[in-house]
Amino acid sequence: MSASEAPLLLLVHGPNLNLLGERRPEIYGSDTLPDIEADVAAAANARGATVLSFQSNHEGALIDFLHEHRRRAAGVILNAGAYTHTSIALHDALESIALPAVEVHLSNIHAREPFRRRSVIAAACIGQVAGLGRAGYTAAANLLLDHLEAPD
Ligand code: DQA
Repeated sequence: MSASEAPLLLLVHGPNLNLLGERRPEIYGSDTLPDIEADVAAAANARGATVLSFQSNHEGALIDFLHEHRRRAAGVILNAGAYTHTSIALHDALESIALPAVEVHLSNIHAREPFRRRSVIAAACIGQVAGLGRAGYTAAANLLLDHLEAPD
């Protein structure tokens, strides 16, 4: 990580996460995406990093965003929503851009329906935070920044 330039983290949200706050609050909580984005920005700014956030309900748009910003970004925090369980294309995009990525889930996907227990993007990420709700995003930002400061 260059000492002269603030590292840029890409915060990427997949399908249906625009409805956070109203979507199944018993599982995903009552906080909204702007609440979460504010948390991540505050955590990153406190450590000298900046954040660019993006949400889409479209697989290709998520991939285009990662491609577009790959050269200026230092790492990725990604909740791919249901694409987590299906999108080989998103897995390949993460692999292709070769940036460290942390996968986040509000819910504990390993304690839910069997189809949610498998992540096809996990192998392209340095790690996964699941089941910690809103706090998981701050944890992911700090884990990613730790990794960028000391990759080994
Ligand atoms: C989720 C879990 C996914 O299974 C689901 O499709 C989502 C949200 C989570 O944050 O817990 O959209 O990624």
